[in-house]
Amino acid sequence: MNQFLEEVLNDLSNSPKRLNSKYFYDEKGDKLFQDIMNCPEYYPTDCEMEIFTAHTKELALALKNGFNTFDLVELGAGDATKSSHLLRELVDMQVEFTYMPIDISSSMISYLEESLPLKIEGLSVQGLNGEYFDMLQQSNQLSSRKKVVLMLGGNLGNETPENALAFCRKMRSVLQEGDILLVGFDLKKHPATILAAYNDAAGFTRDFNLNLLHRINSELGGNFDSTQFEHYPTYDPSTGACKSFLISKIDQEVIISGQTFIFEANEFIFMEISQKYSVTETEELAAACGFRTVRHFFDHKQWFVDTVWQCV
Ligand code: AVI
Repeated sequence: MNQFLEEVLNDLSNSPKRLNSKYFYDEKGDKLFQDIMNCPEYYPTDCEMEIFTAHTKELALALKNGFNTFDLVELGAGDATKSSHLLRELVDMQVEFTYMPIDISSSMISYLEESLPLKIEGLSVQGLNGEYFDMLQQSNQLSSRKKVVLMLGGNLGNETPENALAFCRKMRSVLQEGDILLVGFDLKKHPATILAAYNDAAGFTRDFNLNLLHRINSELGGNFDSTQFEHYPTYDPSTGACKSFLISKIDQEVIISGQTFIFEANEFIFMEISQKYSVTETEELAAACGFRTVRHFFDHKQWFVDTVWQCV
């Protein structure tokens, strides 16, 4: 059985029902995520872009941390829009480094390998197509140079705090003392600002969530009627957890690959967490996982932080 099917059957058999937001990103999901990033309510992308454009030089200096040779590994590089500012700066500084973008999409990796050296003359790119930790191990086999790892976009927020802790500990275990990690965190702020970012007026976030039901229908032989589910985003300022749910509007049955799931009216499916952090919480996380916080880079509203950690 493929992993997607196995997880969906298992997650919908769970009580309460849930689905994994890592499956949001098929072709349609990628396009909807682009729409979300361009919509006025979704601030994190603009904030992090501001950090990368307004503080490029300081960022480059903090990451190179006195070293002139390293591998710059980016987890979930996407089209590398933000990091390309940093790459250009490092090339201009004549730092000797190889950019190693890791992405689950092979077409994205091929695109980066072809296009980036044309845009940034002198850049050396070695793409790695696969899962984060497998590819990090591979980057260690490819070269023994010091590693500088980028984890941008607040992706760590899509893990529960417990899983984020386990993830960062695992990350520390594949790195060496002195290696550097740059992690993006969306920060706690006015609850209404956060909630609006996950409830945009154009309905992109709603469609992003509902698209997973369509994906289950087309790829796993499901028969979800997505019009019978409602997008319900929440933000709890006491925990910093921004969670989205799909609520069943009626009593209904859904069949996926021959297995029947019963939904009662008002029953929810937990779809995604986007955890928000305080600066202190990011520092506590670093310390709990074997990192030392070196420096924080903020946008001017202090809504987002890219924080530099060093392995101790
Ligand atoms: C990719 N990730 C950081 C986004 C977030 O903000 O949690 C995914 C997203 N979900 C809804 N809107 C954006």
